[in-house]
Amino acid sequence: MNTLQQNIPLVSDLAQNIIGSEIIKLNGDINQLISKGIHIYNLTIGDFDSNIFPIPDLLKEEIIKAYQNNDTNYPPADGILPLRQQVSALLKRKLQLDYNENEILIAGGARPVIYAIYQTIVNPGEKVIYSVPSWNNNHYTYLSRAGSIQIETTPENNFMPLAKDIEPYIQEVALIALCSPQNPTGTVFKEEQLREIVDLVLNENERRKSLGIKPLYIMYDQVYWELVYTPYQHFNPVTINPKMKAYTVFVDGISKSLSATGIRVGWAFGPKEVITKMKAILTHIGAWAPKPEQVAVAKFMANTAAYDSFVENQKSELFTRLKLFYTGIKHLHQMNLPIDVIEPQAALYLTVKLNLNHRKTQDNQHFADADDILKYLLEKANVALVPFYAFGTGKNSEWFRLSVGTCKKEDIPEILSRFHVILENVKK
Ligand SMILES: Cc1ncc(COP(=O)(O)O)c(C=O)c1O
Repeated sequence: MNTLQQNIPLVSDLAQNIIGSEIIKLNGDINQLISKGIHIYNLTIGDFDSNIFPIPDLLKEEIIKAYQNNDTNYPPADGILPLRQQVSALLKRKLQLDYNENEILIAGGARPVIYAIYQTIVNPGEKVIYSVPSWNNNHYTYLSRAGSIQIETTPENNFMPLAKDIEPYIQEVALIALCSPQNPTGTVFKEEQLREIVDLVLNENERRKSLGIKPLYIMYDQVYWELVYTPYQHFNPVTINPKMKAYTVFVDGISKSLSATGIRVGWAFGPKEVITKMKAILTHIGAWAPKPEQVAVAKFMANTAAYDSFVENQKSELFTRLKLFYTGIKHLHQMNLPIDVIEPQAALYLTVKLNLNHRKTQDNQHFADADDILKYLLEKANVALVPFYAFGTGKNSEWFRLSVGTCKKEDIPEILSRFHVILENVKK
């Protein structure tokens, strides 16, 4: 190919410049070691091993039944009515949120819902504000041809954005993307933190109303809300202040609560006008949840005893693993080893700090940034975590996400002892 030909674009600018998944890149290094026959404790995956965390038996039976009953044609664009009714009932029963079937949109998981929210609310060139680390907002902003304002958060604030961080930009943004419980940190908003943001948005919307301009919305991704561990609690903008119902679009679904990531059933709920337009956008994409899965999930959710008992067990299995890691890592911290951890609050994630930047190992290996830490962990302990830079922080961040969704309980002592060995090998 000559130079001229090399410069001829083959695809749109959007496609040409799309950012690949940072986690997939990391998996390349892991797979290389695996191909050499090395066993890796891979704690990077924000998914479940379905042999350790299967979907509910009853849900599986209902899915099979739905196929046997030929429930295989197009579902309605906003999802089948019985499922929207069940979502409405769940929101009322467990969160005291009042949303009717016309304010709910079913889609093929939470991702199409997020895409549709961005497309429905944000004009090209407008700005979205979100915190880092956070999950995939950079990609959805890019796909919407929007601009972004990123707020770097701190462990002291549970890695959640504060109203005072958002305030300077409040007049220039179209959407505030919030997520609680949050991926990657496994942390939740405190009620007061969220209330301050809510007050800010309501004030700003008074201003916008008087000027006759489009309101400011919050996208509230609560896909992990069922997985919050005592004494922590899940809060949302609308319960904090019902006036927020006009300005909040929720992202939700069964992927995490029912370990059903491959079943592809998610939903949005929010102001009817927004939901109707999201439905119109998703109709053209055909991002419906498959009909047999919709039928089966509606039947499963109608059995509240089965639903509740599955979710309780799911929480308990995840929390046991998180707690074992937490206790073990805190113990290493107390031994003055360069590691720390945040108490498990929610989801399948633990936030771990490896305090290694600018240190050296006994054999003088130097750590400049997260990549060096990652490499050391992977090669010397055969343990893989995700660095927070995969979620938008700088490479100097020493924080990592540890996911327990694919982890066997009996492996945890061995993983902790490997942490111990490689950290003992770092000069004090
Ligand atoms: C915060 C958050 N929202 C949404 C999703 C996507 O969920 P789904 O698999 O239902 O598309 C994920 C998946 O990891 C997530 O972490």
